[in-house]
Amino acid sequence: MTFPAGIDIDQIRAVALGCTRCRLAEGRTQVVWADGNLESDLLFIGEAPGFHEDKQGKPFVGAAGQLLDKLLAEIGLDRTKSAIVNVIKCRPPGNRDPLPDELETCKPYLDAQLSHMRPTVIVTLGNFATRYILEEQIGITKARGRRYDRRGAVVIPTFHPAAALRGGRFGGMTPIDAIRQDLQLVRHVLDERSRAAAAATAPGHTETAEAGSSEQLGLF
Ligand code: URA
Repeated sequence: MTFPAGIDIDQIRAVALGCTRCRLAEGRTQVVWADGNLESDLLFIGEAPGFHEDKQGKPFVGAAGQLLDKLLAEIGLDRTKSAIVNVIKCRPPGNRDPLPDELETCKPYLDAQLSHMRPTVIVTLGNFATRYILEEQIGITKARGRRYDRRGAVVIPTFHPAAALRGGRFGGMTPIDAIRQDLQLVRHVLDERSRAAAAATAPGHTETAEAGSSEQLGLF
């Protein structure tokens, strides 16, 4: 599916809310489009709605979402300062993994959200979002812990908060510790960007801002 030129994001959202392009339409209560601020520079991408998201029509409102909110608060963020979406907009039955044809069918909606937002920082939560954005069949344990440049944004992959709720250790770390570490990198990239923006509008202070930024970069 391609959208006609000139169609805006609200019209695309309306199309998505009535979508019957794949089998997931049969079992869903409602399409889960997005939460937070779609005008923000920061985008979190999860996998697919679960039970509570399907009922409420909002991403990440169940236990994983509550944990995500807590972790965001630890780095001074909340849903008004970022947008949250999923790769798949309808709940797969029994919360099973999305199937390849469902991922393909739903792709135009996330692509439209990305084109509308043009986020400068993208955090991918778990395998599905990470593979979608990096366009690589890579696992999250291997992908996380660093930043990538994709789609004009800094991409920071991390574990899905549901993995932190399950526990265990991956690559020598618990998922919750890994998420906290990755979110520190998010905080750092956002701070780096604010300093660069401030320096650009205050030419007299450019040198100081650049020195601060390279000092910080040494931390990572
Ligand atoms: N898990 C997700 O990936 N997305 C949600 O919206 C909820 C749980």
